[in-house]
Amino acid sequence: MKREKVIGKYDYIVSAAGRVNIIGEHVDYCGGKVMPAALSLRNAVYIRPNGTDKINLSWTDLPDKVTLDINKLGEYRDLKHAKYQAGSAYFWQQAGHKIVGCDMVHDCTVPFGSGLSSSAAIEVSTIAALATVAGEAFDPVEVALVAQKAEREYTGVNCGIMDQYASACGKKGHAILLDCKSLEREYEPVELGKYSLVIINCNKPHNLVESKYNERRAETEEALAVIKAQTPIDCLADLSPADFAKYAGLLSPVVKKRAEHVVMECERVRQAAEAMKAGDIVRLGALLNASHDSLSRLYEVTGKELDSLAGAAQAHPACVGSRMTGAGFGGCTISIVETAQVEDFKAFVAARYEAETGYRAAFYDADIADGITVTKLS
Ligand code: GLA
Repeated sequence: MKREKVIGKYDYIVSAAGRVNIIGEHVDYCGGKVMPAALSLRNAVYIRPNGTDKINLSWTDLPDKVTLDINKLGEYRDLKHAKYQAGSAYFWQQAGHKIVGCDMVHDCTVPFGSGLSSSAAIEVSTIAALATVAGEAFDPVEVALVAQKAEREYTGVNCGIMDQYASACGKKGHAILLDCKSLEREYEPVELGKYSLVIINCNKPHNLVESKYNERRAETEEALAVIKAQTPIDCLADLSPADFAKYAGLLSPVVKKRAEHVVMECERVRQAAEAMKAGDIVRLGALLNASHDSLSRLYEVTGKELDSLAGAAQAHPACVGSRMTGAGFGGCTISIVETAQVEDFKAFVAARYEAETGYRAAFYDADIADGITVTKLS
């Protein structure tokens, strides 16, 4: 169904954002701080109540039509496309909220499998849309927490809170400095002066992300258990680099590398927030480079394609920093590049990356946008 045909027949458009993470990778589930931003790439839901006990789902870019019974929302986990909507509705209902029958059309501009959190955008916008059509005010943080539950249950990825939080609570022109232990946040204006953010997809199909992600989580949990037996901490993010050095010798070589990444990445986020506040974009860029290096060597979640893509970006003279963003194992990089040189940068990176890997990179035009938006259509 074309977008223009949809508008006008529905009561609301409720949307939620895809996200890019500027820095703070693989630390959200260790209680660390992260710095994501919501994107103008998003999932929009056109919705109206239909007076029945059914949710009729359709998509602007898929021929499928799916009907869900609001009394059986837990029974749809095997559906291909609709399981995210069904799961989100189910956990919202389980949290004690009212679900009413409705018609909804989903229109997603977050590229799937890009590491820009299309699934979080779908889950968060589905819940916010269902609450809106049921006449309920909603708390975006609660929406994010319920969406995280749906993601964990329906993708098998034991994810942290970063993606759903950014999708729900993002703010135009700002990054969110989110403390994943307390869920407190600060908004940091993203003022890059003569620089711009460039997001590039390595276009390598994701492979085994779920199992490798869960394996990294288990390794960080092992590190925490060993160190906790020595000193009272709640999470790895509580350890300073100096304290980590005291206990690192107790860990097996692989687990030590993983924990070192987490502790030092938390330190980089602290420094990145300072650099952003001071408008020191060159320093921020250097921290992005160090983050990528750590994700590659210590956390081992990059792979040859993301290493090649970040390496090509870092080799261009107008780029002050580049790193993988999101879970890794494929997906996107984020680079900070002199705005006047962006076109030259893109041509350089595209050619070098394709020569090295055989894959064609994709470049996205996206701005930093709000999280959930609700528009009443009259
Ligand atoms: C995925 C997860 C997030 C986070 C990142 C890595 O996007 O959904 O919770 O762990 O990976 O930083």
